[in-house]
Amino acid sequence: MTDRYALVGNPVAQSKSPILHAAFARQLNQDMTYEAILATKENFHETVRRFIDEGGKGMNITAPFKLDVLDLVDTMSERAQAAQAINTLKFDENGVYGDNTDGAGLVSDIQEYMGVKLKGRRLLVVGAGGAARGIFLPLLQTEPAYFLVVNRTAHKAHEIIGDHADPGKVEAGAIELAADGQFDVVINATSASLTGDHLPLPQGTYAKGSLAYELAYNKGRTPFMDDATRGGAARLADGLGMLVGQAAEGFLLWRGIRPDVTEVMRMLRSTVKPI
Ligand code: ATR
Repeated sequence: MTDRYALVGNPVAQSKSPILHAAFARQLNQDMTYEAILATKENFHETVRRFIDEGGKGMNITAPFKLDVLDLVDTMSERAQAAQAINTLKFDENGVYGDNTDGAGLVSDIQEYMGVKLKGRRLLVVGAGGAARGIFLPLLQTEPAYFLVVNRTAHKAHEIIGDHADPGKVEAGAIELAADGQFDVVINATSASLTGDHLPLPQGTYAKGSLAYELAYNKGRTPFMDDATRGGAARLADGLGMLVGQAAEGFLLWRGIRPDVTEVMRMLRSTVKPI
């Protein structure tokens, strides 16, 4: 029997998830469908419940419901717990399981697709909102030599690292703390690029040969990317690979098999603004 999956959000029409999952299903010969369902704040829970009752196997949850979904699950992964947000649901005889594949998608894009290993490297995340919270634990688990989280509002960066704080290894603070940090990988998890703002990253933030990764995609060359190039970064990335990576991780959770993202990345690359 054909297994049903769906994305729930508002809006959903612009989402690339249906294209991604259809491509993965084709690649791996999986008998499944994936649709996009528009929900409202009022009918979100009911929409998910109905899909489960109809025999649906899993769902992706996108804005603005990633937090609303927390009180809908029976169990959730450690990374969803850490992120306090869910983007993937799986339905089976054990009930509703919630996961967050955003961070794993980012890590696999950097390490597998781009070939930049994070273990033993110096890592900087700028931002301490929902996006930063979602990627913190998976990034930490790659065992960077030094991991700094900075934010315009410093206390929020401290909240993100929480109990994982470890002086000289895992630290948090204001953006100025990145001065002379010589980071190998710098990730912009702020929403500054959406408003065209520059981040006040200080001199010496970027190590020679470093990677500057913007979580947003389809924004073209952002102020963060321009500043990174001027600051000495050798490589730039947008969040398209993370988008594809989070979908691949979700597919793995649902189908027990990991798709190859190369072909899909090539297909999607031409549909977004070049960087
Ligand atoms: P998201 O879900 O995209 O993470 P969010 O939770 O609203 O969105 O968080 C936005 C993040 O971008 C925050 O870290 C915010 O910094 P503050 O906590 O100080 O507000 C950061 N941000 C947004 N605009 C910024 C700017 N112009 N300069 C620096 N940081 C900015």
